[in-house]
Amino acid sequence: MSKVHIMDHPLIQHKISYIRREEVGTKEFREVVGEIACLMCYEATRDLKLGDVKIKTPICETIGKELAGKKLAVVPILRAGLGMVDGMLTLIPAAKVGHIGLYRDPETFEPVEYYCKLPADCDERQVFVVDPMLATGGSSTAAIQMLKDKGVKRIRFMCIIAAPEGVKRMQEAHPDVDIYIGALDERLNEHKYIVPGLGDAGDRIFGTK
Ligand code: PRP
Ligand code: URA
Repeated sequence: MSKVHIMDHPLIQHKISYIRREEVGTKEFREVVGEIACLMCYEATRDLKLGDVKIKTPICETIGKELAGKKLAVVPILRAGLGMVDGMLTLIPAAKVGHIGLYRDPETFEPVEYYCKLPADCDERQVFVVDPMLATGGSSTAAIQMLKDKGVKRIRFMCIIAAPEGVKRMQEAHPDVDIYIGALDERLNEHKYIVPGLGDAGDRIFGTK
């Protein structure tokens, strides 16, 4: 069974409460989503494997630590996942970035695929799939299946707000994928929006409503 990590860092909690407020406009919403992604990236990378590396300081030679093996990739689920990419790259600037385009059909609530472009060596990387919202789990389970179909083996999923229904679906579909959550909310409403949530993440990031 996959591990579910719920972030308890006070800065993450404070910033999530800020963006939940309906009066927060596009500029602030976008900025703070980026800050939350950066803080969550710090938390979600704390167990990455390290290897020894010989280095020379101005004083002497020594053995330091560096990330082991092929490095990382960040894969946002379009559109709203784009809002988390810069925050992740602030801490892991050499990461490659892939894109998966999915939208939720407004009637069935199931994901519809419209784009997939991944780094060529994605299957050798630790991939962080990012999307601010895990609601029914349709989008994230489909995105992760698309990655697995291309041979990607090491996947983590990161979202700012999750509903219990989505977490359950993810754990059933992908028991090998650990989930990093900023805040676990109560439930979904009849339109499959997260309660209390923050509304439509894509619209709030891009100002489309
Ligand atoms: C939102 C969100 C997730 C998805 C979550 O995207 O960014 O991708 O809904 O819902 P689910 O867990 O029920 O699949 P949306 O489909 O609204 O597309 P957008 O990002 O293009 O606005
Ligand atoms: N997608 C969103 O953007 N918000 C929700 O609450 C659910 C799905």
